Amino acid sequence: MAFRRSRRRWRSCILALGSALLSGPTAAADRAFGEYLSAECVTCHQLSGQLDGIRSIVGWPERAFVAIMGEYREKKRNSDIMHTIASRLSNEEVVALAAYFGTLRPN
Ligand code: HEC
Repeated sequence: MAFRRSRRRWRSCILALGSALLSGPTAAADRAFGEYLSAECVTCHQLSGQLDGIRSIVGWPERAFVAIMGEYREKKRNSDIMHTIASRLSNEEVVALAAYFGTLRPN
């Protein structure tokens, strides 16, 4: 009995590892870091992708997300709030946020 149970646990562990490897170790790490960083963003932007006064930022292609954050940083796009937020983020953090929000789907 005990043996069987632990074997099942092993199997789910290997499956989880396999899917992490498939999507690439950096992609998985980026998403995890992005999720951590997203806590600030979701105080304003809805995770559900619903438009609640402020535009949705989920499900975008990563490149578009990174480009827009760059435009805020360079003040090419207007938004005082986003100028402040974008200027505090490193490139690495923006890439991680893009990876995380990009994998979410609006519901
Ligand atoms: C204090 C509120 C607030 C916080 C916190 C915030 N934003 Fe924003 N964000 C805004 C507002 C306001 C806009 C402008 C929305 C508009 O133009 O309708 C915006 C716009 C954006 C856009 C462009 C959306 C579009 O459709 O053009 C992106 C991308 C974005 N924010 C990402 C982020 C990320 C990533 C974070 C967290 C690091 C974050 N925001 C945190 C308020 C916030």
